[in-house]
Amino acid sequence: MKTPRAVFVCQECGAQAPKWMGRCTECGAWNSLVEERPVDPEVAPGANRYAQFGAGGSAKLYAEVDIADAVRLSTGIDEFDRVLGGGVVPGSLVLLGGEPGIGKSTLLLQAAAHFARAVGPVLYASGEESEHQIKTRGDRLGIGDAPLYLLSETCIERILEEIARLKPSLVVVDSVQTVFSIKFQSAPGSIGQVREAATQFLFAAKGQNIPTVLVGHVTKDGSLAGPKVLEHVVDTVLYFEGERHHAHRVVRAVKNRFGAVSELGVFEMTGTGLRPVPNPSKLFLSERASGTPGSAVLCCVEGSRPILVEVQALVSTSTYGNARRMAIGLDQNRVSLLLAVLEKRAGLNLAGDDVYVNIAGGMTVEEPAADLSVVAAIASSVRNRSLAPATAIFGEVGLSGEIRAIPQAALRIREAAQMGFTRIVMPAANVDRGDPSLTTTAGSPKPPGEGGTLELVGVRTVGEALDSLIT
Ligand code: TYD
Ligand code: MG
Repeated sequence: MKTPRAVFVCQECGAQAPKWMGRCTECGAWNSLVEERPVDPEVAPGANRYAQFGAGGSAKLYAEVDIADAVRLSTGIDEFDRVLGGGVVPGSLVLLGGEPGIGKSTLLLQAAAHFARAVGPVLYASGEESEHQIKTRGDRLGIGDAPLYLLSETCIERILEEIARLKPSLVVVDSVQTVFSIKFQSAPGSIGQVREAATQFLFAAKGQNIPTVLVGHVTKDGSLAGPKVLEHVVDTVLYFEGERHHAHRVVRAVKNRFGAVSELGVFEMTGTGLRPVPNPSKLFLSERASGTPGSAVLCCVEGSRPILVEVQALVSTSTYGNARRMAIGLDQNRVSLLLAVLEKRAGLNLAGDDVYVNIAGGMTVEEPAADLSVVAAIASSVRNRSLAPATAIFGEVGLSGEIRAIPQAALRIREAAQMGFTRIVMPAANVDRGDPSLTTTAGSPKPPGEGGTLELVGVRTVGEALDSLIT
C-alpha cells in the first residue's frame, strides 16, 4: 500500500516543502517547518470535500439578489455589536484574537448567554475548560436561565455533530488552537489543524447559516497563531487590546466584511465580568490632573468613533550619555520625527534630554491626527508650562512644520464639545475649508455649561500652534 507522502508546513506562513529545512524559503522564519500528513483518503472518501459548500449554485443577476434577509442579530452587548458592525450577521465566521487572560472567554460567555435568551439556543464548545469550570465562571457573571449548551470537546468532528444535532443560533469555539480534526495527524495548534478547523467551521457556518465565533490565541509577538491563513478564511477579525493591569479593554475590528474596520468597543473588567463603557472619552480623561505641564487632550477617531485621550510627555535632562526617547501607545518613529520638527522648526533644544511620551490609560493611537497633541505635550513639558485649559487638539504635522488637514474634523469637534471642551486648536485648512458638516457643528446647540461657546482656532504652523496653546 502506498503510504501518504509527508509534507513539511511552515507554521509562520503556511508554505509547504517536500523535505525538512532549517529555514522557510518563503518567509525566512527559522525552525518553523513541521511535518504534516495530508488527508488520508480512507477517512475522507469522495474526491472533492468542498462540494458540500454552496453546491448547485448558478450565477445570479445582481438585481435579483435578495438582501432582505440580511438581518443583524444583537448579542445583547452594545459595544460588541458595534465592533461587529451592528450585530452578528447570520452565517458569518468571526475570529476573536487576544492575549491569554485578557477576557475573550468572559466576553463570549456573556454574549452567548444574552444571545441564547434573545435569539435562540447557543452552543459554547470549549477545548480549554471543562463544563464545570465554565459554569463556575458563568455563575460569577450572573448568567441565569438561558438555552446555553456547553460542550467540553476538542474534536472538530464531534463539535460538528453537536451542531447538526442542536441546530443552534450561534456557535462559539474556544479556542481554534485547541481543536483538532481526526483527518490530520499533526498536533492541535499546528497550522494544518488550525486551517482545517477554520475551513470546517466555515462550511458549517455558511452551509447551515449559523454564525460562528472562533477564539484565536495570539503569539508572543502579537500576531494570531496560525497567522494569515485564518484572517483570509474568516469574515471578521476582532482583536482584544489592553493591558492586563488596566481595567479597561478595547475590542477592535481589523477586518470586517460587514462593517467598518478599526471600529472599537470599549469594556471595563469588573468583578462580575466585562461591562461595556458607552462613553470612553470620560473613562480615558477621568484621571487627568488639569493644569499640569506635559499633558494635552487629543481628539482621535477610531473607526467611526471619536474618542478623547490624554497625551502625556515628560522631558528631563539625561544623566547618561545617550538620551532616551520612549513612546507608549504611539509609533516610536513618528515621535522621533516630531522631535526633529520641534528642534528645527520651533527652536526647541532637546539634544541632551530624555523624552517620554505616553497615551494615558493604555490606548494606542496610530493616526497622524495625533501629531499636534504630541508636539504640544512635549513643548509644554520642556517649558514647564501647562497648556491652555479646556482645550482639545488635533492635526497632522508635516516635516516643514506645517499643520496639515485631517479627516472627520466635525466628528472630533462634536465629541470635544460634548465633553465640555470650549476651545479647539486644529488645522487652519479644516476651519477654512468650510466643511458643511463643520458649520452645522459650530451652529449646533452649544455644549452644556462652560458658558456655551465653542472657539475653533485654526493654526498653520507648529510655531503658531504653540503660541496659541502655551501662554
Ligand atoms: P478570560 O476570559 O478567561 O481570558 P481569556 O479567555 O482571554 O484567556 O479572562 C480571565 C481574566 O479575567 C482573569 O485574569 C480574571 C479576570 N476576570 C475578572 O476580573 N472578572 C470576572 O468576572 C471574570 C470572569 C474574569
Ligand atoms: Mg479563555
